Amino acid sequence: MSQSRRIRMLLDELSWAEKLGQLQIVFRPDLHDAEQLVRDGIGSVFWPRSAAATNALQRVAVEETRLGIPVLVGLDVIHGHRTIAPVPLAQAASFDPSVVRDLARLAAAEARSAGVTWTFSPMVDVSRDPRWGRVVEGYGEDVHLTAEMGRAMVRGYQGETLAASDAIAATAKHFVAYGQPEGGRDYNTVDASEHRLRNVHLEPFRAVVDEGAASVMAAFNTVGGRPMHANRRLLTDVLKSEWGFGGVIVGDADGVRNLIPHGVAGDLAEAVRVACVAGLDVEMGGAPSDAQAAELGPDRLDPARVDDAVARVLALKEALGLFDDPFVPEGDERTEPTEDARRLVRTAAARSSVLLTNDGTLPLSNPPRVLVTGPYAESTDHLGAWTQSFAAGARSIADELRSRMPRTDLRVIPAVGFLDGHDGIPDAVAAARDRDVVLVFAGEPSTLSGEAASRSDLRLPGRQEELIRQVAATGVPVVVVLENGRPLVVADWIDDAAAVVEAWHGGTEAAAAIVDVLLGDAEPAGRLPMSFPRSVGQVPIHYAHESTGRPATTGGMLTEASVDIGLHGPDNVHEQYTSKYLDLELGPQFAFGHGSGYAAFTHGTPRVSHGEIPLEALERGETVGIDVVVTNTSDRSGDEVVQAYLEDVVSSVAPPVRRLVAFERRTIEPEAP
Ligand code: NOJ
Repeated sequence: MSQSRRIRMLLDELSWAEKLGQLQIVFRPDLHDAEQLVRDGIGSVFWPRSAAATNALQRVAVEETRLGIPVLVGLDVIHGHRTIAPVPLAQAASFDPSVVRDLARLAAAEARSAGVTWTFSPMVDVSRDPRWGRVVEGYGEDVHLTAEMGRAMVRGYQGETLAASDAIAATAKHFVAYGQPEGGRDYNTVDASEHRLRNVHLEPFRAVVDEGAASVMAAFNTVGGRPMHANRRLLTDVLKSEWGFGGVIVGDADGVRNLIPHGVAGDLAEAVRVACVAGLDVEMGGAPSDAQAAELGPDRLDPARVDDAVARVLALKEALGLFDDPFVPEGDERTEPTEDARRLVRTAAARSSVLLTNDGTLPLSNPPRVLVTGPYAESTDHLGAWTQSFAAGARSIADELRSRMPRTDLRVIPAVGFLDGHDGIPDAVAAARDRDVVLVFAGEPSTLSGEAASRSDLRLPGRQEELIRQVAATGVPVVVVLENGRPLVVADWIDDAAAVVEAWHGGTEAAAAIVDVLLGDAEPAGRLPMSFPRSVGQVPIHYAHESTGRPATTGGMLTEASVDIGLHGPDNVHEQYTSKYLDLELGPQFAFGHGSGYAAFTHGTPRVSHGEIPLEALERGETVGIDVVVTNTSDRSGDEVVQAYLEDVVSSVAPPVRRLVAFERRTIEPEAP
């Protein structure tokens, strides 16, 4: 790696203790504490909550330390800083990378104005197990979609140059395979073959590193028995050597210390040594005590490795322009969403919503009497996992409906809470009887997804299913709007609903976006980025599974009639001996890519540019084009998401049955009559 003159000079000047200080980021919410740590030489801190406090820390770093090195200021800006965008899983459902880029750009501008220079996002863990609460932070089950959205987010955060006043350094996390914990339980063991790592988990990281992501975060999990914070093969051999990653590898919170309970280090000094050898550059957590630091001499940590790590940190500070000017204009701190910011997140929330089913009840056509019910009716919990207390809050859907449907007779009875047994169901059922439509706002509270929020049951929590079934039993059409951070099991009630919209946790403007969708002012034309299972017992279920030697053609228990199917397939396998569950239909409730909208489309026969293409041509960068004519046959403008899947018919390893290789979302006007 080439180093600037400044970095070479600093490496010569820095003492051993000062070097180790550069290799840590610490959590210290109290400003005085943080100032002391910076005075003592800590290289990076978490954001101290205002532009003024950040400037105070930078002033200490520049004026009160021997070499005047500014600090990196980190923060989990995950889906917005002040203005909160839909959760990342929802953003993936937009199937529109430009939405993701624009949201990241907004988040970066707000965060940098406050002195933040380093975010711990995007999460590009391919997630195929909805029990894992962190599926909300990523882009779902597909490798290509995750890679494309991750790239878009890096472009949005980092812009053209990190030194710009609206750019922050991105961190791709959690390297690697964190999305495949056994049992869907957070922080749990991962055992992944080279085949699975290369074809699934590593690929989105390769893409975002290629896009220029400034840093990568090591994951909490083991891979093949080796905790990622101590995994030299993956951190150094693959990420740094094979891919040429020149940025910073940062540990996850206390991930180095966690090597002790993992059982691969006897004490903290050993944990630091192992992590350093593995290729980790920055440790995230509490600052070590003087006694602990004293044990970390050059006899324990390889000086060349330490210099390499320090150089990476200094290079990031340099790229961010911090040596030239570490301060931000305090008067320009963006503490409130602007009108443009609100408009952007509102459009994004509507574009992220997915129409799961619709018998024509949506969009609503001015129903005179409406019942509004469900725990989300009056809730303002729309921000989703991973937002901070200073984020701009959201309004309730009931309030939004009242202002947008002033001539409608709206009755609002939330009836049930998310988790409690509160039983307002009889009141809701009684109120439903004289209504033209019932709107049920259901879902999971934000706290049920995100870090350390795994669930073993994927149904709507509390008594929400009962509420839906009982109001639907009145015969009045029921529209269900879901707000949640993971795929749910909806089998027990989905057929009772006239229409179901998956709105996810939509952020600061979620209520407005949901009403836009219900009234038809915006179209819910997103597509599912993760399959919805029929039952939790099917998990992990995803569309790009490998072909088995015994693929099933029908699901469920064999009846006498199905036994007559008899032998089939090239090997004469009896249907009974195929890969399936005896008590479930085949496949998920809703597969990856599912979703419709308010318009209707027909597709012509796809035309492929090459019937055949030699491997050498592909290696030279030649591509295969596919053209398909899509016609809007409805009477309204609408969005279609064209998805191209590839099937490798005969291969040396069992290929996935199909995989997404390209997608495009387009607004198409109706065909002229
Ligand atoms: C732990 C999480 O795993 C990680 O994603 C996050 O960036 C850090 N905590 C810092 O808050």
